[in-house]
Amino acid sequence: MCGIVGAIAEREVREILLEGLKRLEYRGYDSAGLAFISPTPNALATQINTIKTVGKVNKLVSAVSKSKAKASGRIGIAHTRWATHGKPSVANAHPHLSGADIALVHNGIIENYEALRAELRKAGYTFDTDTDTETIAHLIHANRAGGKVSLLSAVKKTVKRLEGAYGLCVIDNTEPDKLVVARSGSPLVIGVGIGENFVASDPLALGQVTDRFIYLEEGDIAQIQRESIAIWHKGKKVNRPTTTVKHQTADSDKGRYEHFMLKEIYEQPRVIQDTLDGRVSKSSVLEQAFGINAPALFDKIKSVQIVACGTSSHAGLVAKYWFESIAKLPCQVDIASDYRYRDIIAQPDTLFVTISQSGETADTLAALRYAKKLDYVATLAICNVATSSLVRESDISMLTMAGQEIGVASTKAFTTQLAILLVLAIVLARRTGLTTAQEAKLVKELHKLPGIVEKTLGLRKQIKTIAKQFSDKHHSLFLGRGIQYPVAKEGALKLKEISYIHAEAYPAGELKHGPLALVDSKMPVVAVAPNNDLLGKLKANLSEVSARGGKLFVFADESIGYQSEKGLKVINVPRCSEVLAPIVFTVPLQLLSYYVAITKGTDVDHPRNLAKSVTVE
Ligand code: F6R
Repeated sequence: MCGIVGAIAEREVREILLEGLKRLEYRGYDSAGLAFISPTPNALATQINTIKTVGKVNKLVSAVSKSKAKASGRIGIAHTRWATHGKPSVANAHPHLSGADIALVHNGIIENYEALRAELRKAGYTFDTDTDTETIAHLIHANRAGGKVSLLSAVKKTVKRLEGAYGLCVIDNTEPDKLVVARSGSPLVIGVGIGENFVASDPLALGQVTDRFIYLEEGDIAQIQRESIAIWHKGKKVNRPTTTVKHQTADSDKGRYEHFMLKEIYEQPRVIQDTLDGRVSKSSVLEQAFGINAPALFDKIKSVQIVACGTSSHAGLVAKYWFESIAKLPCQVDIASDYRYRDIIAQPDTLFVTISQSGETADTLAALRYAKKLDYVATLAICNVATSSLVRESDISMLTMAGQEIGVASTKAFTTQLAILLVLAIVLARRTGLTTAQEAKLVKELHKLPGIVEKTLGLRKQIKTIAKQFSDKHHSLFLGRGIQYPVAKEGALKLKEISYIHAEAYPAGELKHGPLALVDSKMPVVAVAPNNDLLGKLKANLSEVSARGGKLFVFADESIGYQSEKGLKVINVPRCSEVLAPIVFTVPLQLLSYYVAITKGTDVDHPRNLAKSVTVE
């Protein structure tokens, strides 16, 4: 997804911008670029210079090092682009220019850009790119009225015409001492320095220059100068608090691991522990952790509505089983992109829960905004980013303490989401008859979780060996029953995302209703088999696969004593209780997808066509 960095300083800002872009690489992008207000060759004036490249930031770094005089200035803006309008190309990469003086970077999508374009064409503007962003640059230029209107006023006038989402950062060679920024639907944060200031779409980008940040609110416009920051909201000047954010540099460093994904898989025991710390005592759950108002709100809850996307929605599907079986509450789970456009009939006394790693996923945010107009008791965000829009816009929130997740394929965020959802199920279950003894039993299991996950990571070598059998395959099936069906879905999503092998998940009982026709010796079938009441039924489903010559890989609880035989490879998973099984059995599936991708040689941390944070629809 796109990333923005901007800087104004007394020193050269080139390296600050490049380092910022590198730090945003984890978000996924296809091109990158910079613009500076640089001295002209005779040093008597200034001019806008841009450098743009398609591909990784390293290509931009090489291009910059070849023309340092051009890529130089004390004020500059930079961008990584993830194509939405027009293919990845140098022309479509940001910054975009209007005339010789205005340069702009933009995150988000302008929905009425075609109408604006037509209008600007009539006014004599020509367009060099396929982007919606170029329209904004020209509109600002038009609103400057040949210099009669200041850049700030022109931006204020311009954003009133924009429909859609934007985080903008603009420079103007005729006002070379300021960055003007605006936010609506796409995050922007101002980094506060001493005699220098910065802006970025994510504070992570500025970790090398400051730990003090001002988070812009929806609709804010700001003028950033070396010594001052001024913010306006709905035409009025406003003050926004400065927050100190300690950067966990270890998260953005692969350390001894070859990929972020593997590092993040291995971090799971620790981050699950971090997630439970302070939220769970020895024998009970501390429900205040959901916020001071949460207990009173939870008292009113008679059902749960979950909305999320991708992996986070799989966490919701697992939780549905917990809400039903532990809390005895009905629970509905919807995909955010679907929910937001339906005529939703909100059930009375319902808690609306969003789940998101980033907290900036456009569909999940839109679903939350829609839900807030409906009759829910409260909105709860389960999220990994404390400062995200989702957290800020929800009534209450509970953070997963996964730390920064950089691998595009979500791993530790998912298992920490599950830990929180299990805690939530217990909290709600208290109100529906869960006894303190039953709660203590569940909490005892939760305390065992980090240790069991650690043990499960020990399957790495075995999984690495079987992964080789997938590398020449084009399709695969993942099976699970009951609460393990969403686990199978998550396993299939991981495999397709990073190895590009088509992977489909089915509830094992559905096999004979169609998908069994796909099974032959070329179709690997992966199954998750914890020790629960459905085991007998699952085994019967797996026999149907064996009978058709299917190649089975079964992750089975070691206590079952499932034996490998011809066409059936059993990988024993450390013994765990039924309630923990969805979390524990996720781990070997993550490792499987990782090692299959390694065997195939794909780009594990940056799979093709995908972005880490999907901030556009
Ligand atoms: C898959 C993956 C995505 C995200 C989805 C939602 O590995 O990472 O499916 O889960 O884009 O993102 P968040 O959780 O940030 O809302």
